Amino acid sequence: LNYRVPQTRKDIFTTLVKGLQRLEYRGYDSAGVAVDGCGKDDKNSICLFKKKGKVKALDEELYKNDSLDLDMELDTHFGIAHTRWATHGEPSAVNSHPHRSDKNNEFVVIHNGIITNYKELKKYLVSKGYEFESETDTEVIPKLIKYLYDNRESNCVSFSTLVERVIQQLEGAFALVFKSIHFPGEAVVTRRGSPLLIGVRCQYKLSTDQIPIQYNSGDARRDIQNKNYINRVDSSNALHSVHDRMAVEFYFASDASAIIEHTNKVIYLEDDDIAAVAEGKLSLHRMNRSAGEDPVRVIQTLQMELQQIMKGNFKAFMQKEIFEQPESVFNTMRGRICFDTSTVVLGGLKDHLKEIKRCRRLIIIGCGTSFHAGVATRQILEELTELPVMVELASDFLDRTTPVYRDDVCFFISQSGETADTLMALRYCKERGALTVGVTNTVGSSISRETDCGVHINAGPEIGVASTKAYTSQFVSLIMFGLMMSEDRLSLQKRRQEIINGLRKLPELIREVLALDQKIKSIADELYQQRSLLVMGRGYHYATCLEGALKIKEITYMHSEGILAGELKHGPLALIDYHMPVIMVIMRDACYIKCHNALQQITARQGRPIILCCQDDSEISKMAYKTIELPHTVDCLQGILCVIPLQLMSFHLAVLRGYDVDCPRNLAKSVTVE
Ligand code: G6P
Repeated sequence: LNYRVPQTRKDIFTTLVKGLQRLEYRGYDSAGVAVDGCGKDDKNSICLFKKKGKVKALDEELYKNDSLDLDMELDTHFGIAHTRWATHGEPSAVNSHPHRSDKNNEFVVIHNGIITNYKELKKYLVSKGYEFESETDTEVIPKLIKYLYDNRESNCVSFSTLVERVIQQLEGAFALVFKSIHFPGEAVVTRRGSPLLIGVRCQYKLSTDQIPIQYNSGDARRDIQNKNYINRVDSSNALHSVHDRMAVEFYFASDASAIIEHTNKVIYLEDDDIAAVAEGKLSLHRMNRSAGEDPVRVIQTLQMELQQIMKGNFKAFMQKEIFEQPESVFNTMRGRICFDTSTVVLGGLKDHLKEIKRCRRLIIIGCGTSFHAGVATRQILEELTELPVMVELASDFLDRTTPVYRDDVCFFISQSGETADTLMALRYCKERGALTVGVTNTVGSSISRETDCGVHINAGPEIGVASTKAYTSQFVSLIMFGLMMSEDRLSLQKRRQEIINGLRKLPELIREVLALDQKIKSIADELYQQRSLLVMGRGYHYATCLEGALKIKEITYMHSEGILAGELKHGPLALIDYHMPVIMVIMRDACYIKCHNALQQITARQGRPIILCCQDDSEISKMAYKTIELPHTVDCLQGILCVIPLQLMSFHLAVLRGYDVDCPRNLAKSVTVE
């Protein structure tokens, strides 16, 4: 929303489309925008443009449209845009957002999340004569707000009050942005369960505390202002002089990457916050608020750089992120490990360390790659903490209504910090009194806000849908936690020292592994037409295999399975023959001999294994069809080095098969629906 900042319609489209492109990794089956009236004399109407396919298709559509006056300058304007990942209804223009209240587009809405009671609402609205055009759950929202508007008791009802009444009726998860011809130049946004943030950019280089937000009067306001907080509007007496000459832009987005090129000043909304902009001023209140209950939200300055979310010279974000791992892993450790004194301090955990040490067990919970980071570090955490460690898939953990106790410590691993299943599991554990710890890559995310304490993995923004650098940084974060827990255990000092030395050398060794890229590509050249690919290992590398197979599934659409080599003779061996491609991970660790046995069983069935092994392991090389030789590190860190060739392999296979690496079909980066 730009207020007193003149922009042409073309500028407005560019901002919206660029923002969508930055968010495309979260969903990309269709896209749409809504802007103010198209013609010169058509101020009080809303135009909708929607298109099936990627954002590029929508972008082309916008410029094809002759009725649009692209050079028309608008002093104040609010446009909305959305890129979709289908939950209800197939990808199509009509199912894409924005959704509208009626043919005149009186109210238009974009929505992330899922409305679970939409059927009841739809039935009611249909009985009142509202006609639906899409198969989505979202469409009940614009219809409902129009219904409330048409039946309002007085003409003074505000836009945000209407939105508040809408969300009182909604069940499920949502981040919503509303626009209406009845409230031109006004925006109302709200959230529950799905992320939403507001970016603010002031013209005239004003300082943060001059952001045009209406504050409560008196001391509270001063207090809040000094700390860069905002809270709910009661009076509008603050900052009047600034408002009068203020020119300002507000951005609303589900993810900071969409807006970082415009501003780094953001406010993260909490569940049931309703934020409204009218007359260029932002106000904030809570659903069902009672007197005196003012939300206080900090205005954060993001550290993210635009460059971090640009692809640079790489073909895909995923490729860029794989190659960033020497730095991202270093950034995870930066300022936390003192190599001279062999101490590790995770600032977000240190105050809770005593409590954690007293706990009954650790439970690590996540989905997808984040779950694998838990599997990968379970053994070393058991060794260093001497506590039982459970690793759980969030959805299954909830399905089982797993018993959780007050003296449990539950870790929630999530790159995005927004995965619905993980977030639900967090709330479940919190209700049962457990201490909750977040391990996320996203400052301000729901999981980092709702946990009692936590670690930010500091890997930098991850855009590729297939997670890579987040995995290795989650891995390192969990190891650092183990090191912190074992600092005063005399018997573990030698082991700790060995791991700390390993961590110090890790970025260098990752560089060595990345240098094998061309070799890995040449193996991919041989494999890319296959239908299946098995990945096998045990011990520390069971997780490597699961994660490698997940990467292959996600972006190459080949069937791939991570197999625990210990289970080989209990089933998977039946799959092995001359034609079945198999990758094995055999490193010199406690499982070496057992892996060797598995290898013999494979070659005895004419299998032709491609083996990830240690440099100069002639024993293994003799039996391998091909080898990828990797530098050696301490056993519990070796998984970081071994997963990288599999990340690279999946990347090359996907490119060779002609697929879009960053936008795998049917998947989204951040799954904010259960
Ligand atoms: C989605 C993504 C996966 C990711 C998982 C967990 O399924 O496609 O790549 O591993 O969510 O995401 P999180 O953000 O919680 O780590």
